[in-house]
Amino acid sequence: MRKIGIIGAMDEEVALLINEMTDVNVLSKASLNFYSGKLFDNQVVVVRCGIGKVNASFCTQLLIDEFNVDMIINTGIAGSLCNSLDIGDIVVSKDLVQHDVDARAFGYKYGQIPRLEYFSFEADKELIAMALEISKEVNKDINTVEGRILTGDQFVAENEKKKFLKDELQGMATEMEGGAIAMVAKLNNIPFLVIRAISDKADNSASMDYPSFEKQAIKHCSNLTMGLVKKVNEVVNG
Ligand code: ADE
Repeated sequence: MRKIGIIGAMDEEVALLINEMTDVNVLSKASLNFYSGKLFDNQVVVVRCGIGKVNASFCTQLLIDEFNVDMIINTGIAGSLCNSLDIGDIVVSKDLVQHDVDARAFGYKYGQIPRLEYFSFEADKELIAMALEISKEVNKDINTVEGRILTGDQFVAENEKKKFLKDELQGMATEMEGGAIAMVAKLNNIPFLVIRAISDKADNSASMDYPSFEKQAIKHCSNLTMGLVKKVNEVVNG
């Protein structure tokens, strides 16, 4: 049975999942609490990594080294970068780019990490396909799309910044951990998927919208993460 690592940045983003777990064992390391146990008969390790790329990176490496997870799902909320995505809708990661990386002074494309062979970090195709299918069943009233997710150590809440990110990097949503988790997973050759539900429009209204819509968005991405965990189990165990 494959073991699934599930990362959320904030307590709220993992609470619904931890609530459903059984046979839970908590192991604390580097100020993080790793919840190992079962979710719908599947072996999972759920952890709240904290906000931002550094927190997300070391948490992902610990999940791989200490818990031997076979795949990683990052679930949480994001700001929308495109008009077709509404509050509560979900973006399933096609790929991720770190939008705060800028080495244009050396001739690199904006977002390219110098001396790294990847520009974007591509999510696992099988997990993408499963997630798109499952979301139709578990989140009937919203749109779930596949697209590029941008990550940076910044809460995007300005119209100009939003336009820049959209035009420069063609992202559909922006958040603060997915691209770091994707990079660590990729360097370790572990399949991953980032699932983000929209809590705000990443514009001048973002900091006002966010608290009101956070809960609804978290429900949608948690629904999908739970659906995916069930399905992975079915596929692997026949
Ligand atoms: N997470 C949710 N909304 C966000 C935003 N606008 N920018 C960065 N991270 C977010």
